[in-house]
Amino acid sequence: MKLPSRLSSVWICVVIVLLDYHWETVLAQVSYSVSEEVNLGTVVGNIAKDLNLNVQDLESRMFQIVDGSKRKYFEVNLKTGVLYVNERIDREELCGSEPKCSLTAEAVINNPLKLYRIEIIILDVNDNSPLFLSKSQVLNITENTAVGTTFPLHPAQDADVGKNTVNTYSLSQNEHFSLETNKGESVTPELVLQKVLDREKKPVIQLTLTAIDGGTPAKSGTMSITVNVLDINDNAPVFNQTLYKASVYENVRIGTSIITLYANDLDAGKNGEITYSFSEVGRGKKTDIFDVDEKTGTVTNTKNIDFEKNNAFEIRVQASDGAVFPMTSNAKLLIEVLDVNDNAPEITVTSLLNTVKEDASIGTAIALVSVFDKDGGKNGMVSCKITNDVPFKLESNYKNYYSLIVDGPLDRESAPQYNISITATDEGSPPLSSTSIIHVHVSDINDNKPHFTEDTINVFMKENSPIQTVVKIVSAVDTDSDRNGHVRYSFLHDNSKSLPLSTMVNINSETGEIVTLQSFNYEEFKTFQFKVQATDSGVPPLSSNVTINVFILDENDNSPTILAPYSEHGSVNSESIPYSAEAGYFVAKIRAVDADSGYNALLSYHLSEPKGNNLFRIGTSTGEIRTKRRMSDNDLKTHPLVVLVSDNGEPSLSATVSVDVVVVESTADIQTQFRHVPIKEDSFSDLNLYLLIAIVSVSVIFLLSLISLIAVRCHRTDGSFSRYSAPMITTHPDGSWSYSKATQQYDVCFSSDTLKSDVVVFPAPFPPVDGELISINGGDTFTRTQTLPNKEKVRAVIHD
Ligand SMILES: *[C@@H]1O[C@H](CO)[C@@H](O)[C@H](O)[C@H]1NC(C)=O
Ligand SMILES: *[C@@H]1O[C@H](CO)[C@@H](O)[C@H](O)[C@H]1NC(C)=O
Ligand SMILES: *[C@@H]1O[C@H](CO)[C@@H](O)[C@H](O)[C@H]1NC(C)=O
Ligand SMILES: *[C@@H]1O[C@H](CO)[C@@H](O)[C@H](O)[C@H]1NC(C)=O
Repeated sequence: MKLPSRLSSVWICVVIVLLDYHWETVLAQVSYSVSEEVNLGTVVGNIAKDLNLNVQDLESRMFQIVDGSKRKYFEVNLKTGVLYVNERIDREELCGSEPKCSLTAEAVINNPLKLYRIEIIILDVNDNSPLFLSKSQVLNITENTAVGTTFPLHPAQDADVGKNTVNTYSLSQNEHFSLETNKGESVTPELVLQKVLDREKKPVIQLTLTAIDGGTPAKSGTMSITVNVLDINDNAPVFNQTLYKASVYENVRIGTSIITLYANDLDAGKNGEITYSFSEVGRGKKTDIFDVDEKTGTVTNTKNIDFEKNNAFEIRVQASDGAVFPMTSNAKLLIEVLDVNDNAPEITVTSLLNTVKEDASIGTAIALVSVFDKDGGKNGMVSCKITNDVPFKLESNYKNYYSLIVDGPLDRESAPQYNISITATDEGSPPLSSTSIIHVHVSDINDNKPHFTEDTINVFMKENSPIQTVVKIVSAVDTDSDRNGHVRYSFLHDNSKSLPLSTMVNINSETGEIVTLQSFNYEEFKTFQFKVQATDSGVPPLSSNVTINVFILDENDNSPTILAPYSEHGSVNSESIPYSAEAGYFVAKIRAVDADSGYNALLSYHLSEPKGNNLFRIGTSTGEIRTKRRMSDNDLKTHPLVVLVSDNGEPSLSATVSVDVVVVESTADIQTQFRHVPIKEDSFSDLNLYLLIAIVSVSVIFLLSLISLIAVRCHRTDGSFSRYSAPMITTHPDGSWSYSKATQQYDVCFSSDTLKSDVVVFPAPFPPVDGELISINGGDTFTRTQTLPNKEKVRAVIHD
């Protein structure tokens, strides 16, 4: 029921109530109604009039309102009898939510005492707005909840009563929810889901609920509603690329970050927590080279990456969320490995020949060389060459295959082994290279003859040496190896000249030691020559020879021999001289020879008996005994002389001869004992004189002869002779002497029956040479007069 507002402040209702018999004084009960919250002084009613009391009497009869409460809500104007509001009246305070609210009071009047009961009904005014106990409400609603599901909301409270209390609710505009109210005891609102929620689109929905009361004017209160859309795992993780491509250099350090995968899951919480993993690698093969951080998606390498093993990886990657039944998705990861020049070329040598013969022809293949580089591209392009100076070369067969072939003459003797250094270099930057050394052994062939250091060996050997004396140890060097270099020695038998060599010397075939098989007597055998051949054991064998000239050296082993007519000491020889002989008279000439040669044959003559002789003297070199002075009567008639002939050897050997000189009166008495008589006193026909002349002359002869011989020999075959040796002079018993120097020897003979002797020059016995007729003139001029082939003796004439 609605009242006009102007009437709400004062609304008078007069109710006449019969007095209760108990309360005799209570005449009647008056009832008023007044709105709450009216202004003080608001007239509730004219109580005097309503109680039929005279207004003038009120004061005198002490009319008053007795109120049970402490507050005096109402008061009466005693002049007018009007009941008015004295205190603020709050219905809600007085009656709460009681639908009916009234205050009671007694009106008391004296003279006579009368008691009236007054009931004042407090009328509700819409002075309170609907009020939500909490200003907001949170609803957790799982996404995908079925449409039509209801969610109760907190109702609003309104202190007012009746129609002033909450009447309707309204919901802010939204697409998901509608509002329904249950009209029971009180109106309760609830949300009804009209459209499926999607957390991923709208995780939180803010709503405002308004409660409106039925007052006039209506009042309202609001509450905010927060709808949290709860996630369900309705979204799979999604990679932001279906194919991830990354490239990485080989040999990067372990743990290098290569790529970061990224997947997104729209779901929240665990449903959106992404875990990355590899599902498969390659064609179903697992590899442990890479690892992915399951939280960040960063792919790293856990091992060294080797381009040469794998140059690309294809990995299936998976992202899964953290729900109990996780959703997954996959993508592909391609990792390309980039090559680094980390592999040196490898050289492989296939040997064809362990050893190469030194006569191998140019182009002979020795080995096959192949090079290989694991790296790709330029890093794997290899060139190959020989880096040292060897007579070999590499010939390219086809890419990266080469033949090692002989490229020059080989000589085992100068280079028995070659270390061929082959270097392969790739084209990376920096380039890598490797070197392989091929050891090639050159095998021997018998291409070297044994070699003697000299063509001719001159050996000087003392005469009378014992048997087995070592003449010489010959040695030839053969630079070949093994059998090819194993040298044996033997005598080379010369057909043209056959010496009984086997009786003279012997040679040790292994050591080359030549020993004598006999003792040599210089006086019989002065020189001999033979050839030694050195032969190796190769097939076929090679040999070379050396000529050995053996010269027997003279020893002073022969004493001087006194020549006829005188004989050795012991027998008595006698000579006569006239008493009238002048000083210097020739008495006798002692002649002696020495089979030795040189100084060993250079004789000197001395008078050894008598000592202190002052009548005779002897020419030291001539052996001529002459008188020193004229005879006197005091002199003895017979003078026994002893002449000592000694050679110049070391030690000296000597002979003595005794001559008795008899002094006769006349020349007629002189015994003609001698076969030859000196022509003149100062004759130079003394043998020793000739010897001296010969030593000097023959030296000159020899030199000239040698020159001419060399000249001739040079035109002939093997005309080289030793350039040096000591000269030797030999005096023979038959009065001849010989001179020899090295291979050249001349024998000079004196005929004993002439003072003006011919000098006979013998060429050296071997090699047999053509004789040369040499004329020695008095003026020391020598003329080659004739060449006599194969003549053994050449005569030279020496003129005084
Ligand atoms: C809604 O969820 C939040 C957090 O998820 C929680 O703190 C709150 O208590 C929940 N409220 C209700 C009404 O379930
Ligand atoms: C995928 O995500 C990663 C990491 O956030 C980013 O670097 C990359 O550019 C993304 N790829 C695409 C195609 O968006
Ligand atoms: C070759 O190498 C070997 C061993 O490495 C060495 O003994 C030899 O002397 C070398 N030869 C040459 C010719 O360098
Ligand atoms: C000895 O050697 C020389 C030169 O070395 C050679 O000319 C000669 O023929 C050889 N003699 C023999 C018999 O082999």
